[in-house]
Amino acid sequence: MKRGLAKEKILDLLNSSKNPLSGEFIAKKLGISRTAVWKNIQNLKKAGFNIITTSKGYFLKDNDELSSEDFKELGILTICLKEVPSTMDVAKQKMENEADEVLVIAEKQTQGRGRLGRQWISQEGGAWFSLGIRPKVTLKECFIFTYIAGLAVIKAILDVTGIQTFLKWPNDVIYKKGKEEKKLAGILLEVKGEVDVVNYIIVGIGINVNNAISFLEPQAISIKDILKYPISRKKIIKSVVKNFFQLNELSFSEVLKLWKKNSITLGRSVKIIQPNQEVIGLALDISEDGALIVQSPEMSIHKVFSGDCIHAKIF
Ligand code: BTN
Repeated sequence: MKRGLAKEKILDLLNSSKNPLSGEFIAKKLGISRTAVWKNIQNLKKAGFNIITTSKGYFLKDNDELSSEDFKELGILTICLKEVPSTMDVAKQKMENEADEVLVIAEKQTQGRGRLGRQWISQEGGAWFSLGIRPKVTLKECFIFTYIAGLAVIKAILDVTGIQTFLKWPNDVIYKKGKEEKKLAGILLEVKGEVDVVNYIIVGIGINVNNAISFLEPQAISIKDILKYPISRKKIIKSVVKNFFQLNELSFSEVLKLWKKNSITLGRSVKIIQPNQEVIGLALDISEDGALIVQSPEMSIHKVFSGDCIHAKIF
């Protein structure tokens, strides 16, 4: 093979593959020895190509630094920031200043927030973003955006990585490994409006992509933990936003039907913790107005609109 040609071909192979390629596979494909593959990879690395060696082979890591240019195709105002307290607040500012819609993405959040006033640890490598929109809905109807966002995230993860995830009520994205259930992503909805008119909503989405999971989050997992190699956050974020707008075209009942199909909460024993009470029982359904319907052991029916949901073996 001509000098340099092997390197070029190796780069082509790595470029066109979503998954890591083993030295053996590359060697066979190009008709060269594994040592030659190894030497060429070392030279490519020296030449500045970001090739990483994983347990499954070589992987060409694109420069995954986020810039608003990368999101042009979405056709919405996109702001990419290095570090910010929370993307929720930047999106809010923009919407207060009359933006019609905005996407705010940060490499890192110093005061990332989760549901129920919790902290959301947001180190580099994750996909942390907020989408501001002005939907024509009433305050009571806003719940639908949590469900739309959950569906948009699980579809993006499946399309980009092939990993199947599930939805835990009200809005956690869960990866199941045997009996273990780990949280891969979370959704936070903030709304500005009055009963009949919603001014704007901010949908905050946090996906553990390539970030290291802190020991403070034993229930969390990242895509990189599952695949053993990093993936492009750009692809994931773009796919989530596209899915979100597509799902937003569906009727409420179509969204709820899809949500139920992908839920791991329905049919399970649950404990819903609310500030003043706990509801324990069997998660039966989601009502048309977005509540989780729970049947207690005494057979009474409860409609639960918010709270912390624990899947538990109760009876
Ligand atoms: C949860 O599961 O509790 C919701 C987590 C939502 C986290 C995202 S990360 C981007 C956006 N900015 C924040 O401060 N929070 C949301």
